[in-house]
Amino acid sequence: MPLYEPGLAQLIRTQQAEGRLRFTDRPEVALEGAQIVFIAVGTPTGPTGEADLTYVRQAAREIAGCARGPLLVVNKSTVPVETADLVERIIKGNGNAADFRVASNPEFLREGSAIGDFMHPDRIVIGASDPHAVAMLRELYAPLGAPVHVVDIHTAEMIKYAANAFLATKISFINEIANLCAAVDADIDGVVAGIGADARIGRTYLEPGLGFGGSCLPKDVAALAMVARAHAIEPTMLEATLSVNRRQVTHAIRLIEDLLGGDVCEKEIAVAGLAFKAGTDDIRESPAMVLVEALITRGASVTAYDPIAQRHARRVLRDRVRFATSVYDACASAHALVIASDDRLFAQLDWPRIARTLAAGNVVDLRNRLDPAVVRQAGLTYAGVGRNRKEIFAS
Ligand code: UGA
Repeated sequence: MPLYEPGLAQLIRTQQAEGRLRFTDRPEVALEGAQIVFIAVGTPTGPTGEADLTYVRQAAREIAGCARGPLLVVNKSTVPVETADLVERIIKGNGNAADFRVASNPEFLREGSAIGDFMHPDRIVIGASDPHAVAMLRELYAPLGAPVHVVDIHTAEMIKYAANAFLATKISFINEIANLCAAVDADIDGVVAGIGADARIGRTYLEPGLGFGGSCLPKDVAALAMVARAHAIEPTMLEATLSVNRRQVTHAIRLIEDLLGGDVCEKEIAVAGLAFKAGTDDIRESPAMVLVEALITRGASVTAYDPIAQRHARRVLRDRVRFATSVYDACASAHALVIASDDRLFAQLDWPRIARTLAAGNVVDLRNRLDPAVVRQAGLTYAGVGRNRKEIFAS
């Protein structure tokens, strides 16, 4: 597998062995006898923040070039509103007389839990104006038993961006509140529990930390802001979401410096977790990687460890950091251990052993996943994001 996704390799092996899945790089082979074709290509961020649609266009051209019978072309890639129109123009402008219909069917799965999210979706969104296209997609998804939202194509495209932008906004909101908690000596865990108990607010996506990363949230918020600007609408909320997110690493550095009692220059820092979140080896837009770069720029010497993303991180960071074989190894002679991803492994560490290994007993929990009492019991000094500072100094 080119990427780590729990269960995916096995699922693909099973489907291939049972004859339901085959791979080809020849579009005419893939389309032979097909009634539905999904475009599920990458839409990276272009030079000015817009979604780069090169691969979507290429797929549309290839489909138009070799489709023979009636075909439903479904866009699953995350694309700006009006991209389905573009796909339709490319396909129909190609001179192919086959009967094409175009629909949008955005995906809401998360890396690390992709299979579960796909099999048990909260909803299926079908964007199509053609009743036959809607019926085909309804039938296709019927076995999943999920509620189906049928909307027009532009609305479906908007739902995808709005969902990711809202999740990102929740995260930036709670990060700003966590930073405020730190300033006024309030406790973010209590605040999240207190506001999350309100059914109108809910508790999900209110985990403060290093900010959101990955190949979706940052890219999609930026792309939606571009769409807004293209329509002369100032994306005030979206810009604020991105700007809070960018600043979160600076807050993290400040937290580390507070604990060290000075700047990080010439300090040895152990960083545990490099992926953008737990359960993946993806380091794209990983806030942990941004933090490591920021620490190096400020003159710290960094030892890093990640249970699965180390291979990819090594390619980017090369010999600018030392890579450790475990968190304990990373801690050897370090002035602080910084937990930078929400990997479950880090919540179960042997803290007395860490206390014996660290040169100075500082633990900075940038994902608030540790139990401060357990860490302190081992004789370590603990700081989390917006977690009550009085307790930090009491330890
Ligand atoms: C995200 C969306 O959650 C999916 O619904 C969507 O389908 C996907 O993007 C996509 O567009 O393809 P994903 O990028 O896998 O999924 O990551 P999330 O689990 O949403 O996490 C994004 C980032 O936010 C991570 O860095 C995570 O650590 C961070 N996060 C998440 C927080 O800092 N706090 C939270 O409360 C939740």
